[in-house]
Amino acid sequence: MCGIVGYIGKKQAAPILLDGLSKLEYRGYDSAGMAVYDGKNIQIQKAAGRLKVLDEQTHGGSTMPGTIGIGHTRWATHGAPSDNNAHPHYNQDETIAVVHNGIIENYLKLRKKLIAKGYSFRSETDTEVVAMLLGYYYKGDPLEAIVKVMHRVEGSYALGIIFADHPDVVYSVRKDSPLIVGQSEDGSLIASDVPAVLKYTRDVYFIQNEEIAVLSEDKITFYNIDGEEIEKEPKRIEWDINAAEKGGYAHFMLKEMNEQPKTVSDTLNPRIKDGQIVIDELGMSDEEIRALRKIHIAACGSAYHAGITGKYVFEGLARIPVEVDLASEFRYRDPIIEENTLVIIISQSGETADSLAALREAKQRGALTLGIVNVVGSSIAREADRVMYTLAGPEIAVATTKAYTAQLIALYLLAMKFAGVRGRLGNDAYASMIKDLKAIPAQIQMLLANKEDIQRFANRYLAARDIFFIGRGIDHAISLEGSLKLKEISYIHSEAYAAGELKHGTISLIEEGTLVTAVVTQEDLYKKAISNIVEVRTRGAFVMAVTNEDNTEIEKTADYVIYIPKTNRYFTNSLAIVPLQLFSYYVSVGKGLDVDKPRNLAKSVTVE
Ligand code: M6R
Repeated sequence: MCGIVGYIGKKQAAPILLDGLSKLEYRGYDSAGMAVYDGKNIQIQKAAGRLKVLDEQTHGGSTMPGTIGIGHTRWATHGAPSDNNAHPHYNQDETIAVVHNGIIENYLKLRKKLIAKGYSFRSETDTEVVAMLLGYYYKGDPLEAIVKVMHRVEGSYALGIIFADHPDVVYSVRKDSPLIVGQSEDGSLIASDVPAVLKYTRDVYFIQNEEIAVLSEDKITFYNIDGEEIEKEPKRIEWDINAAEKGGYAHFMLKEMNEQPKTVSDTLNPRIKDGQIVIDELGMSDEEIRALRKIHIAACGSAYHAGITGKYVFEGLARIPVEVDLASEFRYRDPIIEENTLVIIISQSGETADSLAALREAKQRGALTLGIVNVVGSSIAREADRVMYTLAGPEIAVATTKAYTAQLIALYLLAMKFAGVRGRLGNDAYASMIKDLKAIPAQIQMLLANKEDIQRFANRYLAARDIFFIGRGIDHAISLEGSLKLKEISYIHSEAYAAGELKHGTISLIEEGTLVTAVVTQEDLYKKAISNIVEVRTRGAFVMAVTNEDNTEIEKTADYVIYIPKTNRYFTNSLAIVPLQLFSYYVSVGKGLDVDKPRNLAKSVTVE
């Protein structure tokens, strides 16, 4: 949601902070700022707009002398994106500076109290309350003041703090917002995410809730909320910095789409041994799997769409009833969780606030919880009873592609595992599905090779006002994802409908030339889908169909057809999504938009 960084060491801090922020810009990009202690005072520079505005303003950080500082890239929640609301924020007498990722829920109450005591605020943010409160409690011991503030504020936070009185220490603390710290030869660093520090160190400490990290040039000390020192072990980051760089591609999204053959293999291969699905991390005995009475899936955005596919696959293969909820609804809808229920939380970042809250709700209600998570060591990964990692590597583009396709694979594996144990899959069917699973990476590669045709087609729709996606059953799940992909990066209004539902109202929106994308991968529904295509074409729609290679009959009805290779009926989403991703990407590129950082969005939504 926002990105924070901090540095204390031998080198000039500001260029290091800017470099770190550039790796975190995916988390928020409406304003940015830095605070650096210059030997006398804490200087703050901040600017609305992309990080490059701040970069230019400070000549790459060179105009800000000092070897200790904190930085921030913002996704506005409280107060519009503006210079004033950008972080860092000072306390009253400008001797303390704070950067924050999260939301202070009781900030209005605290702000009122502080105003009554004579404090005057310079911004509309919740964060400024933290800075003012720190000033209020600070009597010479920063740790003591931080602990007092932690007891007063409610909500979520990862904070980076510097005190003019202690110009050789960066303080950092978190609750429900991600934070890591690391030590390099030249100094110590804090950041919201690993890519920001990877250039300097591979050994990072994951800060847990209500832990405090105190960083000096050559040492990091950890404390709990009672101010008692605690021990922590660093974790070695195995992936390379190149994984978080564009590597010659025009955009992260293009790179990440192209990585899908590999990320699908990486998620799949370690879990297929001698033709059998082995998911050690599931930690469920066959008896427990057989006893399962229900699965709930809760997630947001694309992860939710993966969950809808999961419902069809679990129910179809393993005959276990599945309910899929948006995490933001699940957490407040008083869900009925009975005995022998598994709750699956799907999340790329592992930090999505609503998904994390849904997980906690499920645990509190006694369910066994499983996180399908991409970011190692993230909050959902740590708090879920079990975690199954999607091994997609760092995903930077706001529009998810490779994490989503890896989530589908994780769900197929689970569904097949459950189906096998529950006696729902004969040996032949099982073996043939394993074969189909293994073929997916090469099939995705084939579909990616078709990018030029799709680009040409996409260029015809740069001025489109509305685009619809229709599909039945599992194809509806893929339509939802195709539509989300398109709208988030092209800003074209788009909706996905279960194909049979269109005539209950939405068909009135179809005009001459409206593009309708029909996903038709379920053989038993071909005829029904074709009727729906005819319905919209009769009203003037231009129909692009995504269908199986054997369904050439569709050419009689659809205007433009994209074929996907043959696969098991439950796995078609993994293939059908590829042309839809490419279509969205090329519409966005054709419109000259910022593909990787679409307006108003952020990669990781750590606020409710
Ligand atoms: O990190 P998560 O998977 O929990 O994120 C969930 C959604 O915010 C995410 O999928 C979002 O919808 C993407 N921008 C879609 O491309």
